[in-house]
Amino acid sequence: MSSQTDTGAGLRAGLDNALAHLRTNADAHMQRLDDFLRIESVSADPTRRDEVRRAAEWVAGWLREMGVDDVALHETTSHPIVTGAWLGAGADAPTVLVYCHYDVQPPDPLDEWVRPPFEPRYENDIVYARGAGDDKGQLVMHLAAAEAWLRGAGGAPVNLRFFFEGDEEVGSEPVERFIADHPELLEADLCVVSDSDMADDDSTPAVTYGLRGIAYLEVKVRGSQQDLHSGQYGGGVDNPANVLVDMLASMVDDEGRVTVPGFYDRVRDLTDDERAAYAEQPWDEAAELDRIGAPAWGEGERGYTVLERMSARPTFDINGLWGGYSGEGAKTIIPAWAAAKFSTRLVPDQDYREIESLLKEHLESIAPPTVRVEVRVIHGGAPAITPLDHPGVKLASEALEAAFGKAPLFHRSGGSVPVVAALDAQLGLKSVLIGFASPNGNFHAPNEWMPLWNVRDGIEAIVRTWERFGSVSPADLRG
Ligand code: BES
Ligand code: MN
Ligand code: MN
Repeated sequence: MSSQTDTGAGLRAGLDNALAHLRTNADAHMQRLDDFLRIESVSADPTRRDEVRRAAEWVAGWLREMGVDDVALHETTSHPIVTGAWLGAGADAPTVLVYCHYDVQPPDPLDEWVRPPFEPRYENDIVYARGAGDDKGQLVMHLAAAEAWLRGAGGAPVNLRFFFEGDEEVGSEPVERFIADHPELLEADLCVVSDSDMADDDSTPAVTYGLRGIAYLEVKVRGSQQDLHSGQYGGGVDNPANVLVDMLASMVDDEGRVTVPGFYDRVRDLTDDERAAYAEQPWDEAAELDRIGAPAWGEGERGYTVLERMSARPTFDINGLWGGYSGEGAKTIIPAWAAAKFSTRLVPDQDYREIESLLKEHLESIAPPTVRVEVRVIHGGAPAITPLDHPGVKLASEALEAAFGKAPLFHRSGGSVPVVAALDAQLGLKSVLIGFASPNGNFHAPNEWMPLWNVRDGIEAIVRTWERFGSVSPADLRG
């Protein structure tokens, strides 16, 4: 199909054919989802490298099968990046870059899964499996929607480029380099990212217009050459574990604010309008607390609501802490060292590289002379925000409303997807984030799940989004 010759009627006939294809192939698409979820594409696990590659091959295979051109696996310093393009809509039609990730988080603790993480379980129109929501389910939805246009309607109303990575869950390190090396494979008017969630489990869609960034580090505090008898030396030397917890505890003050000098310098404050919008979000604090099973919400950074603190404010969190003796019984030692992994979630316009240095310098500066401290950066990613008046937001919202029967809500997410800011910084390419996972879908946790009603309506929403995007010029979609 070519936009030069297509009339509005042509577009509508195309849409009907694409939607008919979805109905006819609904079972086949569910089977594809099942097959894909069985691949153990855990990017963090070196013993599963081949499985990660198998997932990339699986994606490439389906893209080729549906007639996408130039499908390729690109080797990186880590896992392959999959790209492909279908440019049959012609130069007058917009070009959309579709981004999702095919890697998943490690599935442990395994004994908390009702069924094993890579053996999908179906119950009450829900699929439970690692990656069901984050993000393999959403990737499959994009492939099904593309197939509906290419196979069902003989072509799509927009040009489609695909960009699927296998390192998102470990920090997306290879993507910056890839974007710099291959801008021609990513050339588009707008990027559509599906790696976020809906507003609820009752078919209220959402456009995610903000993501937090992240700076993830590790700190090690060393004292003596080897462990010491705590009776003989206790009171004499500083205990590295005590020093470490003191240092970490001092990172957040009594008002819940990060104490690192300069940390807040670039933080963009919430506007009154944004705060009003937050207050309008249909979010039930008590129900959410009950769901996660914590006794109470923390006080956090004073002056902000829980929802604001979880998506629009930066944080400091210890992710792991170890050292000394943690086996059975007691062992009276002063450990030679103690270590921690910690991360800060960042918001616009914080710069993760600057924050990495600030954190490192601060920790080094507060360490007493009785210990040696080593700080190491593990990964980082920039925060992102899509202006709500971007034309892509409006068009995608119309498509979401048509598919789900409800207008979308606009929310900011507390999570991070580093590629979004990288595409903007390196190519000036904006992203619109339409996510279909459940906001309660156990991302990164046991019994991750995805509502199959979201899968069905979400595929339709993607199909309709391409139709809406196809109704405007490339310049208009760029905004
Ligand atoms: N899909 C998530 C991010 C997300 C979560 C978006 C919830 C919207 C709602 C993504 O896969 C993720 O987990 N990202 C990591 C990135 C990190 C490893 C750099 C994260 O946020 O921890
Ligand atoms: Mn994800
Ligand atoms: Mn994730």
